[in-house]
This record gives sequence, structure tokens and C-alpha cells, in this order.
Amino acid sequence: MSCAGAAAAPSLWRLRLGARRPLSACGSRVGTRARSSGMTLDNVNRAALDRIIRVDHAGEYGANRIYAGQMAVLGRTSVGPVIQKMWDQEKDHLKKFNELMVAFRVRPTVLMPFWNVVGFALGAGTALLGKEGAMACTVAVEESIAHHYNNQIRTLMEEDPDKYQELLQVIKKFRDEELEHHDLGLDHDAELAPAYAVLKSVIQAGCSAAIYLSERL
Ligand SMILES: [Fe+2]
Ligand SMILES: [Fe+2]
Repeated sequence: MSCAGAAAAPSLWRLRLGARRPLSACGSRVGTRARSSGMTLDNVNRAALDRIIRVDHAGEYGANRIYAGQMAVLGRTSVGPVIQKMWDQEKDHLKKFNELMVAFRVRPTVLMPFWNVVGFALGAGTALLGKEGAMACTVAVEESIAHHYNNQIRTLMEEDPDKYQELLQVIKKFRDEELEHHDLGLDHDAELAPAYAVLKSVIQAGCSAAIYLSERL
């Protein structure tokens, strides 16, 4: 079952409260540090959270545009329902990060208009190579996103698994669904795409650049 929905708001509030609790309720040593340099400590955590939510929102937005591009070309073919199913899950992912952005007052990356065009062009362009091209794009992108989510999970676990418990659950769920998309791509002949290895490498280099930029801009 996909994420988001009615339970999101209270869940987010718990996460917000949970994010503050350790800073004020820990032992005196940490508490003193938090009081003496509270702004700095808060800002560091805040910056990390901003970066995570901003880049994940951008990634899910880009994924939606990619699947929109694929559907524009292949929507009426035999793989249309497969692509639509993955797109529907991406819509839920984006909805969740839209909610998180509002809850945590995180601004989107300034590159959103760029990802709008580039995502659609990537989806449509690879789909014009045939369904194998579209699936190769899916494999490349989803593998990159799953890797990116794994890095975030590692970071949050090292930071404070209790504090970030609910965000971790969201990211882990989405990571699993991205891996399902990756496997669906392989099941639908991604590796038979023209110049599969080169195509995959180029797309993944683009994903790395997109992640780097969206975290920072
Ligand atoms: Fe996604
Ligand atoms: Fe996905």
C-alpha cells in the first residue's frame, strides 16, 4: 500500500515534536551545550533536514516527470499499465514529500522548472527508443534513487534513529518501492535497450548531478 493520506498530519506532528525533544530533554551536558550554542545545534540539524526533504522532493518530482514522459509515448502500448502503476506510486511519494515540505517549512529547489522539462524529456526520449529504452531509464534512475535513499538512511541512523524514526520509515518504504520499480524494469527487458550500459551510465551520471544540485540550490 502506498504512503500518504489521512494519517500523515498527526504523524508529521509527532515527528516534529520528536525532532525537538532530545535537544531539550537530554542530560545536562548536552542540554548546556544546546543552551549555549542552541542556534548552531538547531541550525545544523535543521540544515540536514532541509537538505534531505528538498532533494527527495526534487527526486520524486523528477521521477513523476519521467513517467509522464514515458506514458506520453508508450501509454497505449502493452507496457502502459506497468508504467502507470509505477507512476501512481511516484505520485504518492511526491505527495508525501509535499506534505513534509509544508510541515517543516522547507522550500523547494530553485531547479524545479528545470527538472520539469529535463524529467519529461528523459522519459519521453528514452521511450522513443522503445519500451526497452524506457525500462533502461527506469532501471538506471531507480537504482540511483535507491542508492541515494540508502545513504540518507545511513546518515539518519548515525545521527539519531529515534529522533528520525518516522522519516526513516518513509524513506525505507520509498526505497523498497524504488527497488520494485528497478526490478520491474529488468523484468521488462531493460537490458535489451540499445547501448544499455552506456545509456545507464549516462543517466546515472545525470542523477548524481541532479542530487548534488538539488541538495544545494
Ligand atoms: Fe519515488
Ligand atoms: Fe520509483
